[in-house]
Amino acid sequence: MNITPLNTTDYDHIVFFTGAGMSAESGVPTYRGSGGIWHEYRWEDYASQEAWKRNPDKVFDFHDERRKEALKCNPHAGHEVIALLEQDHPDVSVVTQNIDGMHQRSGSRKVTELHGSIWRIRCEEEGVIHEDMNPGPYAARKCNCGAWLRPDIIWFSDYLNPNILSQADEIVSRADLFISIGTSGVVWPAAGYPQLAKSGGAKLIEINPEPTELSHLYDQIYPDKAGKVLQKLFDLLHLNIT
Ligand code: APR
Repeated sequence: MNITPLNTTDYDHIVFFTGAGMSAESGVPTYRGSGGIWHEYRWEDYASQEAWKRNPDKVFDFHDERRKEALKCNPHAGHEVIALLEQDHPDVSVVTQNIDGMHQRSGSRKVTELHGSIWRIRCEEEGVIHEDMNPGPYAARKCNCGAWLRPDIIWFSDYLNPNILSQADEIVSRADLFISIGTSGVVWPAAGYPQLAKSGGAKLIEINPEPTELSHLYDQIYPDKAGKVLQKLFDLLHLNIT
């Protein structure tokens, strides 16, 4: 595939909008498509407030597994490209649907997590969010106040955190280069971001081996894997990670 590297100085506000396909090359399973988590697990039983209320231990076991899997994996060259760009360019942001913390592990600092994080937990009784970077299962399933804790993740039917949402809206609206990587584009409100960026005049690029429901919006499409395309697109092939 022929990829002409981008000149990053042509753009003032670069946004990477990422989904599960961004972490796929690190070994983290996606949600849909072959090997997708939602083929093995019914989200109704593991990723909803109702499921957690019904059986918190079952939901915790599932998310403990996600934490274990994420820790077995490492950021790949594509993550590194994004983190390096942030150091070299005044305005590079990541808006991600991923909850695995992989962008931060590769060094990205400006990361907006739309769907929360498996590395945080909250007590809804006290309204407090705690980091839980314990390398393994969540350190505790119950709060000191006696209430059940809850992974700080946006599950199906949950509202997104309004502060995170307005931060993401603001970042995406001012983008002049918007690069979508590894998302099927079917989960809202995240699926509205490509159109929001387009309405703001951004150039839109999609990186995904498969066509998506939103492919028609993009100015350029690279139907290949994230790591390879990102290295070529930003001329950082010397990272040489496959
Ligand atoms: N590089 C780029 N894209 C890839 C790669 C890769 N190496 N491997 C797979 N993909 C693409 C797939 O073709 C698919 O379009 O990644 C996409 C993953 O789609 P989903 O599994 O639907 O993940 P995502 O879009 O992030 O899901 C959104 O759904 O279940 C919820 O909350 C969960 O955040 C998640 C949301």
